[in-house]
Formats: sequence, structure tokens, C-alpha cells
Amino acid sequence: MDALREARALVVLTGAGVSAESGIPTFRDAMDGLWSKFDPHELASPEGFARDPKTVTRWYDWRREKCGAAKPNPAHLALARLEDHFATQERAFTLLTQNVDRLHQAAGSRNVVELHGTIWVWRCTRCGIEREERGGPFTEYPPQCACGGARRPAVVWFGEMLPEDAMQKADDALEACDLFFSIGASAVVEPAASFIHHARRQGAKTVEINREPAPITPVVDWSLPGKAGEILPEAVRMAFGI
Ligand code: APR
Repeated sequence: MDALREARALVVLTGAGVSAESGIPTFRDAMDGLWSKFDPHELASPEGFARDPKTVTRWYDWRREKCGAAKPNPAHLALARLEDHFATQERAFTLLTQNVDRLHQAAGSRNVVELHGTIWVWRCTRCGIEREERGGPFTEYPPQCACGGARRPAVVWFGEMLPEDAMQKADDALEACDLFFSIGASAVVEPAASFIHHARRQGAKTVEINREPAPITPVVDWSLPGKAGEILPEAVRMAFGI
């Protein structure tokens, strides 16, 4: 792990695979169970929400319940330790995540860029006001804002753009990085798919941790096959003894 030991500016991209070991099913896995009779597009798109706000709200209630019961796993904790360690040495550390569960923040990570938003914040579709929603299930569908507008989770749905500020932060971090990690992300959908190419253009070394081969596996400098919760803590321990 010389590359990690020597990195001055690290960017880490995390996907659903990092939260899988906390018991949060990936979007695809979740669709196999209770919700298998539903079309993913109908549960996670503005059109689906407009057509059936009750089902969409209940789907996100179910996901909030799952995420609320979940605890950070050794991969989340290793990333938080790594960030602390980098901070003491004035090295840059940016965590780009596609996960909407906020388990990175629960583990202590601070510089987290939420590319796909979070299920813990709900936004009014009329006035745009956002509010944290940590409580139990909603009782009205869709939940109503004081202005009378419908409230929805502040996550990125199919067909929607990523938040501009998150994209800008991701771009800035990639522009400056000398090491890029992709962990538990299939990274098939843009813009995450192009992050690795951006990093490589900057001359950054690239590492992947994934349980299975992914489209970026042939492209990275080092592929570490296996579970994020096992490989990452070991890599961090080997590099820094933490
Ligand atoms: N450790 C490491 N990797 C894992 C683990 C684990 N314990 N468990 C699963 N993985 C890997 C899988 O092999 C897969 O490559 O994590 C990846 C999860 O992929 P996705 O479910 O596609 O999640 P993600 O990349 O975060 O994408 C989230 O955005 O790209 C879109 O359509 C995609 O809806 C999805 C969302």
C-alpha cells in the first residue's frame, strides 16, 4: 500500500457495496424482496411520484427504517480513520458517495460529498424548502409542506441531474487528486463512471475494492477483490498502522 502511504490528495468514491455489510440492501437487491412486484422506475422517478405518491412515500419510509436501524461497518470506520489521519498531515481527503444513508457521517467522516442526496432530507416540490426527517413513517401521501406543496426525498431520481454543488466539489477534488479509490461501486452510470478517467488524466493512481469484477476493473492500477469491510481496514492498517 505504498500508493496510499504516499498520497497527498485522495479521492474515494463509495457505492452501495460499502453499505451492504451494514445490512442495507443495494437498490437492485431490495427490488428482489418485498418490493419485487414494483418497477424501480416507478419508485424512483418524478413521474412515478406524481402518479403514485403513496407507494413512493412508503418505499422511502421502508428505506428510512432500514437505514435507521443500520450501523456503520468496518469499511465506514476505516474511511473515517483515514480522513483523520490525512488531516493531521495536511493531506487532502474527499469522500464522494452515491449512498443516501449517511452512514459515512455516522462513522465520523466529515468531508463527504453526497452525489445522490440523502433520504434523511425531504424537499418541497413547490417552494424548495428542505427539512430533515428522522422520525417514523409519514401519515399523509405525499407529505405536505406548509406552503401546500408535495414533499419528496432529496435524492437523485432516474432522469434527474446530480446536485450542482456536489458535482463541482467532485470535479475540484478529482482535478487535484493523486490517488483515487472506487469502493463497492459498479460505477456504470454517469457521472460516476467518468470519475476514474478524470483521475487518470490528472496522473492519479487508481484502486478498486469490489466483491465482483466491475466495468472499471480492467482500467484500475490495482484491483483488490473482496469485501470492503475486510479489505479496506486491512489496507489502512498496513499503510498507517491505524
Ligand atoms: N464489498 C465490496 N463491494 C461490494 C460489496 C461488498 N461487501 N457488496 C456489493 N459490492 C459491489 C457489487 O459487486 C457492485 O459492483 O458493490 C457494487 C454495488 O453496485 P450498485 O448496486 O450498482 O450500486 P452503486 O454503484 O452505488 O450505484 C447506485 O446509482 O449507478 C447507479 O443504477 C445505479 O441505482 C444504482 C445507484
